[in-house]
Amino acid sequence: MALKLIVTGGAGYVGSVCAAKLLEAGHEVVVVDDLSTGHADAVPEDARFVEGDAAEATASLLGEGFDGVLHFAAKSLVGESMSDPGKYWRGNVFTAIRLLDAMREHGTPRLVFSSTAATYGEPESSPIRETAPTRPTNTYGASKLAIDHAITSYARAHRLAAVSLRYFNVAGAYGLFGERHTTETHLIPLVLQVATGDRERVQIFGDDYPTDDGTAVRDYIHVADLADAHLLALQHAVAGEHRIYNLGNGTGFSVRQVIETCREVTGHEIPAATAPRRAGDPAVLVAASDRAREELGWKPERADLHGIVGDAWRFTQERRGV
Ligand code: UFG
Repeated sequence: MALKLIVTGGAGYVGSVCAAKLLEAGHEVVVVDDLSTGHADAVPEDARFVEGDAAEATASLLGEGFDGVLHFAAKSLVGESMSDPGKYWRGNVFTAIRLLDAMREHGTPRLVFSSTAATYGEPESSPIRETAPTRPTNTYGASKLAIDHAITSYARAHRLAAVSLRYFNVAGAYGLFGERHTTETHLIPLVLQVATGDRERVQIFGDDYPTDDGTAVRDYIHVADLADAHLLALQHAVAGEHRIYNLGNGTGFSVRQVIETCREVTGHEIPAATAPRRAGDPAVLVAASDRAREELGWKPERADLHGIVGDAWRFTQERRGV
């Protein structure tokens, strides 16, 4: 069934890939983005684009009658969330509450929300299930967790069909859509900047973690597999329920393994230097995604790290006109 949907943050990395996949699947998409971190030319051609605040612009559109909202728009820099927390409580939490109120007012039935592994904080055990304790170690994770709680109560009280997807480490690219943050903090794009010559070397934040090679381990998930989960979430959302799913491949790769894979994919030497640990970084974050597989029928098709890095590299080179 074709749905009429609003995608907030559809000019950003994950939002643009999702918007593209929703359009491919035959849905009607309106992208709302204030372009604070997104790019107008990342909005897929077949989407209608409204530039504006995620809550305000969405509220004024909802009267047209929509089947659902996919809410990607958010602030997502962990370091900044600690130095300027108000930006995250206002920009993430307050915006989401206003969005929920507008959806309630207009009777919009479905919500898919971008939550994060950062809601769990330092895990007690690995891999992380949805039943694990949520003790975020930074304001970014805390803001997303607060929104998850708000969604639960709105879903129950107002019969909203809601799904939160807790992303682990998103990477890779899909066609014309990929990662291009002005302030880049993520490992794979930073390593690829060394391969393109835009950066001299990559820093390894800590080599004294209790892991095989001493560097931190993460679960890298291809952005296109992640987008597929959003389409499935829309189909499986149930009125009055808020379901939460972890999304990762269930395999961890260390910072050194990621750098080595980037060397193999790009053929560049990629100098690396050890630096102190980054504050608030857990040693290991790996997802148990059994719930998404069982309940949504989600099957990641691009779990191979070489493939993920390969797609990110192709996107990086195409953007540079190589
Ligand atoms: N890292 C380096 N050098 C770098 C950049 C990163 O060693 O230059 C390390 C980090 O310390 C970490 C790993 O590479 O151990 C991955 O770091 P990323 O910044 O790519 O991603 P994170 O694991 O910090 O991602 C977390 C959560 C996500 C959340 C994101 C917010 O896992 O759920 O922060 O940006 F969305």
